[in-house]
Formats: sequence, structure tokens, C-alpha cells
Amino acid sequence: MHRRHFLGTLAASGVLPRTALSQQAPDVLTAATHRQQILPAGYPETTLWSFDAAFPGRPLRARQGDRLALDVVNDLPQPTAVHWHGLRLDNAMDGVPYLTQAPIQPGETFTYEFDLPDAGTYWYHSHAQSMEQVERGLYGPLIIDEINPPDVDQDLTLVLDDIRLNQDGTIGEFGNFHDLSHAGRIGNLWLANGQIDPAYPIKRGERIRLRLISAANSRIFTLGLAGLEGWIVALDGMPLADPQELPDQITLAPAQRMDLIVDVTTDDDEAFLITFERDGGYAIAHFPVSGAPSPKRAKPDALPANPDFPIDLQNARAATLLIEGGAMGGMRAASVDGEQLGARDLAQRGLFWALNGTAGRPEDPLLDLKLGESVRIGMANDTAFPHAMHLHGVHFAEVLPDGSLGPLRDTILLNPQETREIAFQAHNPGDWLFHCHMLAHHQAGMGTWIRVSA
Ligand code: C2O
Ligand code: CU
Repeated sequence: MHRRHFLGTLAASGVLPRTALSQQAPDVLTAATHRQQILPAGYPETTLWSFDAAFPGRPLRARQGDRLALDVVNDLPQPTAVHWHGLRLDNAMDGVPYLTQAPIQPGETFTYEFDLPDAGTYWYHSHAQSMEQVERGLYGPLIIDEINPPDVDQDLTLVLDDIRLNQDGTIGEFGNFHDLSHAGRIGNLWLANGQIDPAYPIKRGERIRLRLISAANSRIFTLGLAGLEGWIVALDGMPLADPQELPDQITLAPAQRMDLIVDVTTDDDEAFLITFERDGGYAIAHFPVSGAPSPKRAKPDALPANPDFPIDLQNARAATLLIEGGAMGGMRAASVDGEQLGARDLAQRGLFWALNGTAGRPEDPLLDLKLGESVRIGMANDTAFPHAMHLHGVHFAEVLPDGSLGPLRDTILLNPQETREIAFQAHNPGDWLFHCHMLAHHQAGMGTWIRVSA
């Protein structure tokens, strides 16, 4: 508490003493079982796995330019590791078991410590058995404040999830072949910040920064706002150069984030965040409204840009990624640890998806890039299901059909049979995972990696 206040004051005065900060003792974050009421009152509580006995995990907040130091204590019955999703950080701190670190065994502690060059909306989550561990609750928001944040009346983070719970409050079994080979583990309950349709009071005339984070295992949210009007100002943590008027419906795939700046314009006494489902729209969170009527205000300025690593498309190395497999996909064989296996043998090992003909993380990287090199990767989704492809360690831009570059992202959705191209500069050395963030798909083979050699 005091430390945050202290940082806030010093940062505002522009004399942030960096060395003093990095000598602070690390903060502690404990992963352990935890019980919480998720189902409506009258139903049993749910046993979760969570960070610091909270679901979502304790919000982590720091300021751009800070250094984060955290001792992660594993009090779970399984090994774990923590990934700081979307951060362009030191590779050794990226939290991927057997790629960047050994998993943290039960009873052990691992110290994560890294610089925070970028401001924005990120999240942290377990990257070990993630289909199970994230579903059980091992995730939380990670907010990096701009040195000069935009002027808003409220800054509200909504971590969205869809969890699959039984009526007795238990979390169902994991890894059934249907989840692995179809759309992934889809839940039966929508949650915002761990609650069913929570309420956040707002006033007319207020300007609100809404940070939406999807922690869903596999569900692709189609969302809309009722009673609030505004702009999209950032995607996956990265500011848009020009804020975009908020459309009626926005898509948030697993792991994606969206920062909105909205004005409270409704005359009604409630506003809503709506999830659009096949049979209509449902409130996933609502906002009791008070105060005197007030119109929408002027368009906000763009958020201050994060450090830029320009992409040299002309001289970029070109690569392709073929996504195959899944039910109705017709994948006949794939290589696993160098061995060619037929579909039946793959299924026996719980493998249903392949990237460039390989199921599971291959021994050799998809690409071995030189530091500073630019690359473009054409991705083809030759399956009957959507996939949310996430690259660690860098943000990429989509190469749009007219050859221009779209906004920076760290996770991109490919619909069935869709082809998309991304490009980035390999500015961050290390071994970076590249995988589907439908966590059941990752578990069932959809993961590869990229090496950036210094
Ligand atoms: Cu959100 Cu590989 O992670
Ligand atoms: Cu997928």
C-alpha cells in the first residue's frame, strides 16, 4: 500500500529512482487451493486453485518503467509456472515449463523479476497444465500504468471467463477427447471478475476506462455495451494510434484484451456489458447508473505509444504455418518427437492437432531468427474450428490484404478455413512459445516455438 503510494508520487514528479526500486524485497504470490462461492447463493462453494486466495488472482499493478519482482510460492498439488501474458520481457522469466524454466514443484518458490517497458492491460496465468490450472482459477490481471495515464473518472478491469461447473459446485473432469478435438473446453457459466453478473456503480457524465481481459479457456466472446458509448483505445495492451469508435459488437478471443474509454450517456438506471449468445444477449456485468444526464464527450487522445520495433516488410523473412487436425479435419498423420504417427496413435496420446505436420512442441524451432530481423508468417487454418494463435515475447501486426500493417497484437483469431499473415521484428532474444490459446488445443498438440538468437 505504502509502496504504491510512494511510487505514484515520485513517478508523477518525474524523478523515479530506478535503482532504489529494484532493491525492494520481492513481493510474494502464493498459488494454493481456495474456496469461493461461484454458483448462486444456496449452491455449494467451489474449490479453486488461485493466486493469493483470490479469484481472479490478486490484481498486480505497476508503473511503466518499473521492475516487477515476485516470489511465486507453489502450494498446489501439481507443479506450476507463471506466464506474464503479453509482456515483452526477459525470456528466462516467461514462465513456460521445459522451454524457459523448470516447473515450480509443490512446496517450491521461484523468483520472477523483470523490467516493464510497456504500459497496458495484461494478465498473468499458469502455463503448466494450463487447460486445467487456468480453468481452476490460476489467473489474474496485470495492469501497467502509463507514466501519464489518460484522465478518466474510473479505471475498471473486468476479467471475463466462462467456467464449466457442476451443480454441486465442483469443476468437471479435464481432458475428455471431445474438448481436445473440438472447440475446446467451453463453460456453462459466464463470469466477470469471478462473479456471475457483478455490479459496478457509475455516474452519468463519468468517463470510464474499461479494461476487458478474456481468461476463457476456449470461448470466443462477442460483446457489446448498452448505455455506454465510446472508443477502443488499445488491443492486447498496445495503444491504437487512432482510437476507434466502439462498434455494436466486439470480439474477444481467449487471452485477448481490449481497453475502452467510454462515457456514461444512458437515461436508464442501468448499463450493461452484454455477451451475445446464439439465443440472445445476456448481461455478463452491469452498472447501476446515477447522476444528472450528460452527453457523450469528445474523442479521447490516443494513449501514449509503447516502445516501437519497426517491421521491415520488404526484407522480411517469409514463413508459413499450416494448422491441421481436429474433428472433421481429416488429419491422417503427424510427427511426434520425430516419429510419424497415424491418427489413431495420435488420438491414443491425446493429440489431435498439428502445426506444419508436427503435433506437440517440436525439438527444433519453427524459425531461428537473428535479433532485429523481420519476419512474416502466413497462417492457414485448415480445420473446422477457430484458433487463437498467441506468440510470446513480441507483439506482431497483421499484414492486411492491401499490404498495410494492422494494429499490434499478441493473440490473433483465425476462423475455420481462414488464412492470415502476421509480421514482427524479432527484437527480443530467447525461445518463445507460439501456440493456440484454446488451452485444450494447446494440450492436444497446437504448440511450436521460435528462437531469436542474439
Ligand atoms: Cu497466455 Cu502461452 O499464454
Ligand atoms: Cu486452437
